[in-house]
This record gives sequence, structure tokens and C-alpha cells, in this order.
Amino acid sequence: MSTSTAVSIKVQKTTQSRIKDLDFNNLSFGKVFSDHMFVADYKNGKWGDCQIVPYAPFQMSPAAAVLHYGQAIFEGMKAYKNEKGEVSLFRPIANQKRINTSAERMCMQTIPEEIFMEGLKKLVELDSAWVPTAEGSSLYIRPFLIATDEFIGVHPSDSYRFFIITSPSGAYYSEPVKVLVETSYSRAVEGGVGFAKVSGNYGRSLLPTKIAINRGYQQIIWTDGKTHQYVEESGTMNLMVVIDDVLITPPLGDTILAGITRDSVLTLARDWKMKVEERKLSIIEVMEAYKRGVLQDAFGTGTAATITHISHIGFEGIDYELPPVNTRIFSNKVKKELDNIHLGKVADIHKWMFKL
Ligand code: COI
Repeated sequence: MSTSTAVSIKVQKTTQSRIKDLDFNNLSFGKVFSDHMFVADYKNGKWGDCQIVPYAPFQMSPAAAVLHYGQAIFEGMKAYKNEKGEVSLFRPIANQKRINTSAERMCMQTIPEEIFMEGLKKLVELDSAWVPTAEGSSLYIRPFLIATDEFIGVHPSDSYRFFIITSPSGAYYSEPVKVLVETSYSRAVEGGVGFAKVSGNYGRSLLPTKIAINRGYQQIIWTDGKTHQYVEESGTMNLMVVIDDVLITPPLGDTILAGITRDSVLTLARDWKMKVEERKLSIIEVMEAYKRGVLQDAFGTGTAATITHISHIGFEGIDYELPPVNTRIFSNKVKKELDNIHLGKVADIHKWMFKL
């Protein structure tokens, strides 16, 4: 065991690395986990017991609050390795801030920046050999926080456990997706938790997504919970369209996650002097643009998915086929630019890459 500096982190290295079993050229998403994980506990009013240990199952009381009332939040982020073998994280401070926004909404203990950042840096450094380099691959990083009180009364937990696990991963979607506009089920409502990265938001999406998959789609486009007239997110991604050369995306608010890729795409579009509108967008407006031939692009943005093109939109029993992906100027350009920024191939003018 060794101990690191700024935040005291005990490190127990694995004696049996699994890296030799990994086929770096054949990675799927989120199925294999690197050798180590970071763990910290909040109890008796303070954070402590920060440690990096071999990735393994852990014990928890069957009465742990997380299992009963869903005090569970998470983040998704990525590390990349450039041609020189240097490892960088993409906008980690934004994830650190967002997990605390989620914690506050779920009445959970926030995580001090130094614990999040030191744990993250030390973990990714230790497992840096697990960061893949094949095109489209990265080390997907999953920080998460759960309530651990052994108590089944409905009450904010007094104890929490924070983890970071990492997974060498390939693309989340290997092809453009066919999406169904969902007008019965809701992901989020005003006053709810849609803006937070709460595990329950993803649990509640499974049934409508399964129904859409059974009908031949890969994902859904959520509409607002009140009128079902306005588009919100698409699956686990923020949704963007280009109509008549204008990039349009629903505005942040109670029901939309403040995606870090979303923000990065909007920032690049504005850098390139593209007209950007963050505003309510009705499905009728999207369909009318389609019929006028001015719906040039539709795509999702997210950490896991990066930029995922939408090939078809299913609405009221009709599948609308969007322009061929190779004709979509903006989404292809922004995807390429983000890939280049991740790998240090272009100037990082916004200082998004955080070198280890
Ligand atoms: C991410 O993009 O990191 C997400 O949250 C999607 C994930 C649920 C796979």
C-alpha cells in the first residue's frame, strides 16, 4: 500500500492484471472494466477512506437506502490517448460540477472537488494502459454516488459511497439511429429531476425504449411531459437539428440534462459563426421543415454517443428518412473537430483537454 499527497488516497494494486485478456481492436461499449476502482466514503459528517483498490464486487446492506429509494446519481466522461501516448480527460471539471448539481437535487452529500479530481487522476494514471487508441475508442469513466444508510425509513441518507470505475470502450452506436417520437411516456416534467443525472431517469426510459425497439427503432425522441408537442432529448442524448442552416436544440431547464457534449457542440457552432437557437422546438415544426426539404440534419450528442446521426424519424405511423449522413455538413464537421480535439490534433482553444 502507498499513500498519495493532496488528498490521502490509499492504493492497493492488483496482483493479477486482466489487461492481457483485452482485445483492444474489438471493443464494445461498457462491458469490460479496468483493473482498479476509486472508492470514498462519507460518514459521520465527513468524507474519508479514499482508496484505489482492485475492481471487484463489494458488500452492502440489503437495507441500504440506495436500493429502496433511488438516491443514486452518476456521471459519464472519457479519457483519450494521443499519438505520443499522453492521456487526457475531456472537460472533467464540468462533470465534477454536474455530479454535485445532481447530488443537491437528490438531497445527497456533495463530493469535494479535490476528492473527485484527485481520485479520478490517480485512477486513470494507474490504469493508463487501459486507455485504447483505436479509432472511435476511449476509456469511458463512470463516477457514481450511492446512499448507504442501513435504514428503510424514507429519509435522506447520512452516509454515501462514491466510486469511479473505468471501461475501455468502442462506439456506443456503431450506425446512425432510427428514432421514434414518443408521445405517451415521459422522461421528465417541470419540477422533476430531468436536468440531473439521476439513475432513475434511465430506468424509466427502458420500457418505452423497448417498445420502440420492438417496432424496429433503436431509440426514442422524448417529448415534453405536459403536451407531448415539443421535442426534448433523444434516448440518453441531447437532441439537435439543423433547419435552414440554423442549429436548433431545446433549451436547458428542469427537463433537459446540461450535456457537456451539447455545450461543446454549441460552442464550436458559435465559433464557426453558425446561427444557433436554444429554444422550444415542436415536432410539427420539425415535420414541416422535413416536408419543405429544409431539415438538413438531426443528431444526438452525449458523452457515450459523442455525435450520433439520426437516420429516420418515426412519427404518427410514418418513417421519415433524413438526408444521407455524408451530406450532413455540420454534424460531420463538429464530430471530426471533437475527435481532433480529443486526440490533440488541433488547437484546444477552449482548454477542454485536461492532461494527466
Ligand atoms: C453518457 O453519455 O455518458 C450517458 O450518460 C449515457 C449512458 C447512460 C450510457
